[in-house]
Amino acid sequence: MDKLVIQGGQQLNGEIRIAGAKNSALPIMAAALLTSDVVTIGNLPHLYDITTMLELLGCMGVESMVGEKLNVEINSGTIRKFNAPYELVKTMRASILVLGPMLSHYGEAQVALPGGCAIGSRPVNLHLAALKKMGADIQVESGYIHAHTRGSRLKGTHILMDVVTVTGTENVMMAATLADGQTIIENAAREPEVVDLARCLRAMGADVSGEGTGTITINGVDKLKGCEYPVMPDRIETGTYLIAAAATRGRIKVKDTWPNILDAVLSKLEETGAEINVGENWISLDMHGRRPRAVSLTTAPYPAFPTDMQAQFTALNTVAEGSGSITETVFENRFMHIHEMNRMGADLRVEGNTVIFRGVPRLKGAPVMATDLRASASLIIAGLVAEHETVVDRIYHIDRGYECIEEKLQLLGAKIRRLPS
Ligand code: UD1
Repeated sequence: MDKLVIQGGQQLNGEIRIAGAKNSALPIMAAALLTSDVVTIGNLPHLYDITTMLELLGCMGVESMVGEKLNVEINSGTIRKFNAPYELVKTMRASILVLGPMLSHYGEAQVALPGGCAIGSRPVNLHLAALKKMGADIQVESGYIHAHTRGSRLKGTHILMDVVTVTGTENVMMAATLADGQTIIENAAREPEVVDLARCLRAMGADVSGEGTGTITINGVDKLKGCEYPVMPDRIETGTYLIAAAATRGRIKVKDTWPNILDAVLSKLEETGAEINVGENWISLDMHGRRPRAVSLTTAPYPAFPTDMQAQFTALNTVAEGSGSITETVFENRFMHIHEMNRMGADLRVEGNTVIFRGVPRLKGAPVMATDLRASASLIIAGLVAEHETVVDRIYHIDRGYECIEEKLQLLGAKIRRLPS
C-alpha cells in the first residue's frame, strides 16, 4: 500500500485549482441510468471513486467513453443487467445511488447492501422505505437488495425523511423523475450537490423544483433525454486546502471554486484569524504568518458546518492558540483520527460525540494510519504542521477523494512525496 511521507514545518503559499466535486459527480453519473440517450458529464475529478462508478456501470453493460478534457459520455442504452455486485459496492458505498434510477427506468435492480464503514453503521433504511412507499417491492436477501416495480411505474407520493440523508434524497429524487405523478420529499438534504443533481436532472427534461430547501417536489415525466452537464467544484477539497493553509500560517488562493457554498467553513476560518477574500470563482486566505486561534464547532447537515471537514478542522485546532470543543452530530464514529493525532503530541480527548482540545505549540512527526477519506486528509494536515517526518499509511483512501493531492501540496511548497508499496 502506498504511503505519503511529509517533512512538516513549511507554510503553504501559492495558488491551486479545485477539481469537480466527487459527491456531485457520483449521483450525476448514476442519473445517466434514467435515459437511454448519451449523457456527457464535464469537469469530472480524476479519482478512484469515479473509476469505481464507471466500472460499476460498465459491469452492467453501460458504455462509457472518457474524453480528453475530464469529460465522460455515458450511454445507458446498452445496459444488459441490473446488478450492482458486492465486490464494487464494498469499495464505494455511493454505489447505492444506482438503485433509484435503475428501478425507476428499468423496473428492477439488485444492489449489494452496503455494510458499515469506518465512520459508523450508515444504514440505507430510509432509501428503501421511501422507494417502498413509491410502490416498489423490495426484499433484502443474502446481502443483496432485490427491488422490482411489478411491471408498472413507481408512484409519486409524499415522503418525509426521518433523518436528513444526502444520498437518500438523491436516490429518491432520481427515482421520482420517471414515477407516475407527484413526489414531495420533506426534510430533504439541502447540500449543494443535491442542487447540482437537480439541475442536471432538469437538463435531462425532469420536472424538479425546491432543491436547496427542505422540500423538493418532483412531477414524474414519461421519458428523460441525454444532456451535457459540468459538475460543480468540490467544496470539501476547497475547504481542505484552505484549512491546511491556515494551520501552516500560510497564504493561498484556490481557483475554479465557488465561495457561496462554503459559508460555514469560511466564517470558522475567519474566527481562527484568517483574512479571507473571495471573487466569483476563487477564495484567498492569508494568516499573515500568525498562529491560528482555537475554534469550537458542531457538525450538522448543510448549511451548517460539514461533517466532511470536521477532521481537517480538528487538525488545525491541534496547533491553535487556546482550547475548545468539536461536536460531531452526523456520524457516530468519526473520531478515529484523534488517536493518531494524539500519537503526534496533540492534546485531544473524546467525550461521547465531542472532542475537547487544547492547542499545543507544535506536533511531532510520527507514523500514522488513515482510516477513511477525510481522516486521511486531516492526518496530512497534521503532518504538515508537525516537526520532522510523518508517514501516513493506507492512503488509498485519499485517492478516492482528492485529485493529485501530493502534487497540489508540492505546488504550495509542502515537502511531501509518495512511497509506492
Ligand atoms: C453523503 C456524502 C458524505 C457525507 C455525508 C454527510 C456522498 C457520496 N457522500 O453520504 O461524504 O459525509 O453525506 O454529509 O454524497 N442515515 C440513516 N438511514 C439512511 C441513510 C442515512 O440513518 O437510510 C443516517 C446516516 O447513518 C448518518 C446520517 O443519516 O448518520 C447522514 O448520512 P447521509 O447523509 O445519508 O450520508 P451519505 O449520503 O451516505
